[in-house]
Amino acid sequence: MAKKIYTRPVIQRQFMGAANKFGGFVVPESMNSIDGIEINELIAEFGSPLFVFSESTIRRKMKELKQAFGTRYPHYQPAWSYKTNYLNAICKVFHDEGSWAEVVSGYEYKKARKNGIPGNKIIFNGPYKKYEDLKLAASEGARIHVDHLDEVSDLIKISEELGKEIEIAIRINMDSGMYPVWSRFGFNLETGHAIEAVRKISFSKGKLKLIGVHSHIGTFILDTGIYKKGVKKICEFYKKIRDEFHLPLSYIDVGGGFASPSKLKAQYMADSSTIPSLDAYAEAITSTIYDVFGSEEPPLLFTESGRALIDEAGYLVTSIVASKTMPSGKRGLVLDAGVNLLYTSTWYDYKVYPVGQYSGTYEQVVLYGPLCMNIDVVRENVLLPSMQRGDKMVLYPIGAYNVTQWMQFIEMRPAIVMIDKNKKPVIIRRAETVDDVNSIENS
Ligand SMILES: Cc1ncc(COP(=O)(O)O)c(C=O)c1O
Repeated sequence: MAKKIYTRPVIQRQFMGAANKFGGFVVPESMNSIDGIEINELIAEFGSPLFVFSESTIRRKMKELKQAFGTRYPHYQPAWSYKTNYLNAICKVFHDEGSWAEVVSGYEYKKARKNGIPGNKIIFNGPYKKYEDLKLAASEGARIHVDHLDEVSDLIKISEELGKEIEIAIRINMDSGMYPVWSRFGFNLETGHAIEAVRKISFSKGKLKLIGVHSHIGTFILDTGIYKKGVKKICEFYKKIRDEFHLPLSYIDVGGGFASPSKLKAQYMADSSTIPSLDAYAEAITSTIYDVFGSEEPPLLFTESGRALIDEAGYLVTSIVASKTMPSGKRGLVLDAGVNLLYTSTWYDYKVYPVGQYSGTYEQVVLYGPLCMNIDVVRENVLLPSMQRGDKMVLYPIGAYNVTQWMQFIEMRPAIVMIDKNKKPVIIRRAETVDDVNSIENS
């Protein structure tokens, strides 16, 4: 019989709030492989920490999205929100599944072009579009969504320089029941700023042509009723300006905002009872459009979903570099990955899966990252078996907004692999080196 592994005894202090409302604990399951590939083998080959993405999960999520909207609505086009994760290999999978690109800077625009997306399949949002980027996008026929009147002035000038009429859409914001209201992007509906902007744009006939209405209501929207309210306002505004100003409008874009199965710190739990399905979002949005347009031909509909499509495809594998007893008696584990790689840890409690089998008592631990910074805490309270230096764990889901907002701060950024559709791990971004960073300094 195999000798049992020794685990040290633990005296466990009970922390208020650590137990769930049934008086029990959620005992973490282990995760030993991703898409059939052993995690220990991945670490042996590519090092730790390591970001791992699953191509098959991305394709599955895209199919769910296309099915949810495509079966309910005749003219639907998804656009992949680049800022959520703009690794080229990831974007290419979204494009291969039929997504256009939604970008918010010249940098992202150029990335989308390099990924093979023509200008006329790029939606260009954002509060700061540099003049030369706007000009490039206008010359290539991108769908430019204007954010403010200074941008309208820039576009009029660009139209004169290019000698062509530029098609644009207007970004609006409004009270749709999501608080605080995201009012800093685009033109506000309730104050009349939006209609005023349309009036000004319509004076520039021959230079600017308004063809669409866009609104990104917010993010991680858990209540589909917010979409109903917001989309109703978008559609009513669309009809009003189309009829009042005789505009050749052809599309609405409802932005992103669908939640992923991550758990906000303030949320009690994150599962299908609290996170709407893509079908539920699609039903709320499309039924509202039909209600407003009645027997009229409904406009082309764009979505710019980000986190709901990629979060579940991303894993961060990390190793314990030290364990210590905190003055409170609680166990602290120092990981080789922290807030430098996990920008979103400020808002989310990721699931933590030990790699391998452990016996013995579970205890509440705090997970610290590698930075010499007090704020580098990945989880304040998580139940784990007795783990020690060298043991590995997986943080999940982490595919959205981390590999774009990560920092090269104190540590280098690690490698990223994708388990491709043939179940083969492929490096899609190698680990950064000190030479990479030094090479752009002058001394
Ligand atoms: C204009 C725009 N579209 C789409 C998105 C993607 O949002 P989400 O990840 O919530 O789907 C964002 C993110 O903030 C955004 O600003």
